[in-house]
Amino acid sequence: MKAIRGATTLAADEPSEMRGKVRELLERIVSANKLRVGDIICIMFSSTADIRCMYPAKAAREAGFSACPLYSSSEPEIDGSLDLCVRVMVLADIDRAPKPVYLHGARVLRRDVAQIINIALDGPAGSGKSTVAKMVAKKFDILYLDTGAMYRAAALKCVKEGVDYAEGSQVERVVGNIDLKVEYRDGRQLTLLDGADVSDQIRTPQISMLASYVSAYPFVRKKMVELQRRIASEVSCILDGRDIGTNVLPDCPFKFYLTASPEVRARRRYEEERAKGSSVTFEDTLKELNERDAQDRNRAVAPLKCADDAVVVDTSEMTAEEVADTICRKIQESI
Ligand code: DC
Repeated sequence: MKAIRGATTLAADEPSEMRGKVRELLERIVSANKLRVGDIICIMFSSTADIRCMYPAKAAREAGFSACPLYSSSEPEIDGSLDLCVRVMVLADIDRAPKPVYLHGARVLRRDVAQIINIALDGPAGSGKSTVAKMVAKKFDILYLDTGAMYRAAALKCVKEGVDYAEGSQVERVVGNIDLKVEYRDGRQLTLLDGADVSDQIRTPQISMLASYVSAYPFVRKKMVELQRRIASEVSCILDGRDIGTNVLPDCPFKFYLTASPEVRARRRYEEERAKGSSVTFEDTLKELNERDAQDRNRAVAPLKCADDAVVVDTSEMTAEEVADTICRKIQESI
């Protein structure tokens, strides 16, 4: 016998929502676990305290799951719990490993039992990765790891130490001893270099180019990739970068690659820079972006590249919300 876990959230505390979502959840559990009618021994639900419209067991019976005992309970109010969430445990007479099913952002309700999920989001500068990654992280209540910030911090360290970037040995000495930490405060990633918060200092066009330059050194990549893999093994997160799907987490089950034309990407960067008060021109932004693309694509170690098994999303004509929705939908369809 195996216990199969699952959960879903409701969009509203209404019977029609409960009926639709409970049916969907149970049908997905049945198909993911290849259950036959007689395999199910019993189904137990709990719903968060804000759900009053209907017991999930009733919705399950109405959906045709009536050949086994059904049970529902209501959870006490718990700080930090998801809103309008229904959890289920299906006991089934199977030997194979159970496949949990978490829908509509209910995946990490119980961090202690939820398995760690990693999402790889790669693509060139200005393809919309960071905006989209933040949205997806919020939706699934997971961390957003901005790996570019780590290469940027390495570049900033080189600037501070006055090293000659073309001299690999100098860069290696400085980056080899780097004190780099990534912390989260109020859901925002802070990049700490030698204990100081450099999150804003690393966002300049000069650091963009230098980050691209120093990231081509194998020892710089080795150091950053170790840190990225450690974080990804400890917490559920979406990582954005250039080589996440190909090199950092090649076995990651969720890989996305964002693209957009150079003009569209440069326009986005240009508008970001202008909003910060910079006087850059569109032409310079486009030139810098093309140079950085070429540098990132052509370096010998872990270049910017789409993984063979990544889902490609062309964001040229899409809003960030549309891209994030596409990604979330694809993930939900396959878990
Ligand atoms: O994503 P970004 O613009 O913040 O990245 C800055 C540079 O860092 C980018 O031009 C190439 C490098 N980078 C990388 O080589 N690998 C990553 N996973 C992330 C960034």
